[in-house]
Amino acid sequence: MTSDDLRLRDANAADAAVCAAIYAPIVRDTPISFEFSEPDAEEFAARIARVQQTDPWLVATLDDVVVGYAYAADFRARAAYAGSRETTVYVHEDHHGRGVGSALMRRLIADLRERGAHVAVACIALPNDGSVALHERLGFTKVGVFRESGRKFDTWHDVGFWELLL
Ligand SMILES: CC(C)(COP(=O)(O)OP(=O)(O)OC[C@H]1O[C@@H](n2cnc3c(N)ncnc32)[C@H](O)[C@@H]1OP(=O)(O)O)[C@@H](O)C(=O)NCCC(=O)NCCS
Repeated sequence: MTSDDLRLRDANAADAAVCAAIYAPIVRDTPISFEFSEPDAEEFAARIARVQQTDPWLVATLDDVVVGYAYAADFRARAAYAGSRETTVYVHEDHHGRGVGSALMRRLIADLRERGAHVAVACIALPNDGSVALHERLGFTKVGVFRESGRKFDTWHDVGFWELLL
């Protein structure tokens, strides 16, 4: 892949079905997401619209096909947390390890800085070597781990938090 093949842009409602398809196996087969049922395209369109009221939702395309997405949202609801944005990134499994996630996150971080956000927070269900490597490569530092704070597939899962001061 050359860097020319990869493009980043703001998501729109027409991207909802592909984003839903990228996310579905993560929900269905892994504890990476703590959701239990796969959101459909309609639900994704609603999520994209809701996020874009306050934050960026980006997609990455290869040859005009969406292969990944990243977005930011509230870290916590109270007003004083407004400058803290929780970031999320997913890349289609056929395209892992090719720089797509890094490109999405670099652009997301740049967009958040431009909007005046103060801290980016990543919440990672552990273990997830790829996500930890991606975030640390981008300058996120580990804050700590909430042990056994999520339960999926009849197993307790630790959740780590990483942060980047913007
Ligand atoms: C985590 C994820 C977003 C990373 O995206 P990606 O496009 O595969 O990552 P990149 O190719 O940009 O790689 C980023 C860095 O992480 C490293 N990396 C990627 N996957 C890795 C793995 N499984 N183990 C160790 N390092 C890994 C790469 O070598 C690269 O480091 P480098 O720049 O020093 O070479 C992607 O693997 C993914 O979507 N995974 C499933 C969903 C997920 O875990 N999302 C995050 C939820 S917190």
